[in-house]
Amino acid sequence: MKCVDDFRLRFGKQELVPVMVGGMGVDISTATLALEAARLGGIGHISDAMVQTVSDRRFKTQFVKEKTKLYKYNVASSDKSAIQFDLGRLAEATQNHVGRTMEAKRGNGMIFVNCMEKLTMNAPRETLRVRMNAALDAGIDGITLSAGLHLGTLALVADHPRFRDAKLGIIVSSLRALQIFLRKNARLDRLPDYVVIEGPLAGGHLGFGADDWDKYDLRTIVAEIRQYLQAEKLDIPLIPAGGIFTGGDAVSYLEEGAAAVQVATRFTVTKECGLPDKVKQEYFKASEDEIEVNMISPTGYPMRMLKSSPAIGDGIRPNCEAYGYLLDASGNCAYITAYNREVAAHPGAKKVSVMDKTCLCTAMRNFDCWTCGHYTYRLKDTSRRLADGGYELLTAEHVFRDYQFSTGGKVALPA
Ligand SMILES: Cc1cc2nc3c(=O)[nH]c(=O)nc-3n(C[C@H](O)[C@H](O)[C@H](O)COP(=O)(O)O)c2cc1C
Repeated sequence: MKCVDDFRLRFGKQELVPVMVGGMGVDISTATLALEAARLGGIGHISDAMVQTVSDRRFKTQFVKEKTKLYKYNVASSDKSAIQFDLGRLAEATQNHVGRTMEAKRGNGMIFVNCMEKLTMNAPRETLRVRMNAALDAGIDGITLSAGLHLGTLALVADHPRFRDAKLGIIVSSLRALQIFLRKNARLDRLPDYVVIEGPLAGGHLGFGADDWDKYDLRTIVAEIRQYLQAEKLDIPLIPAGGIFTGGDAVSYLEEGAAAVQVATRFTVTKECGLPDKVKQEYFKASEDEIEVNMISPTGYPMRMLKSSPAIGDGIRPNCEAYGYLLDASGNCAYITAYNREVAAHPGAKKVSVMDKTCLCTAMRNFDCWTCGHYTYRLKDTSRRLADGGYELLTAEHVFRDYQFSTGGKVALPA
């Protein structure tokens, strides 16, 4: 019976173990986790979501404090349109996070950064341009474009000296999204180096409707995209993602022609994952009916999470002076609207509850939005129960090697 290690992902002359650990924003896929994946010969992702916050935590910088101080006067105002990111400081934070990670890289694998278009930061094009160019300057091996159609994104780095040497890929959830991306970028004469095809069972934001995600199936979408690319004579490595829980699942995609797989949920309960240990135990314990797909993300995309996430129903005052990553080009965010509505409906109340949206920046910063993949309820079968009723945390190496070497639907327990 074949295992993942019988296959290789090829980028030119470079050969990799075809396991890519997906980006998990706001430092859930830490540099330490990504570095392990690279050391073991695969691909790891860091994320540039809320990079100033991440830099502050990793390197004791003061980006958030400085920005909060600058916009302190605006805290009580519901109009957040004045809040802007200083592009120089944004570049600096990105270079810290990416550069220090790349300096620490060992082994034959690669490290990519996950770059979400939906982080519009009150100046979508300008901030995305800075984020991507700074990551390339800092030596990132590749950029995975996510959470958006990215119709103009590649053009933002077309003049960068590394535009043709860094690996640039995109996450799509349908053939149509890929077709639009390819059409819009045709004039750049540069195909993506890989396409991650994310199905409906993934964690984070989903590229499907909240009501119909369960009508879609990853294998069918991968087959449609493969047939289209073959017909067009386009040779782009395809990387399925979402619900690939065992090495056996991965092999089934590799045997059908996938170049690699992208996985994430299995790594949420590793020591290297950025979630607090207490939250990792929530992931272990979750049962299937404790996981839902809801619309509380202000991005407008459905998101999968544990129903017990503290982010659900929290009615905190919008924190855009400190963060503001989801402010659109006019300085609006769906959470601000929802919060203001509740405040107006409950005059004099000390605290309101907002059920339909969440202040996602604050929630992700505080690890209060427990986003997860559909198969989170199977994590308990990947570890041992401890005397205190909790579960033993795994190492990223253990999980990576389990994907690499296990066969059938088996999962190896920690030694
Ligand atoms: C906790 C968590 C956070 C995630 N955050 C992001 C993110 O910030 N950006 C993104 O493109 N995908 C994100 N994802 C999706 C993963 O990168 C990956 O494609 C997907 O979850 C793979 O499916 P699996 O979790 O079933 O293995 C996240 C997934 C999880 C579990």
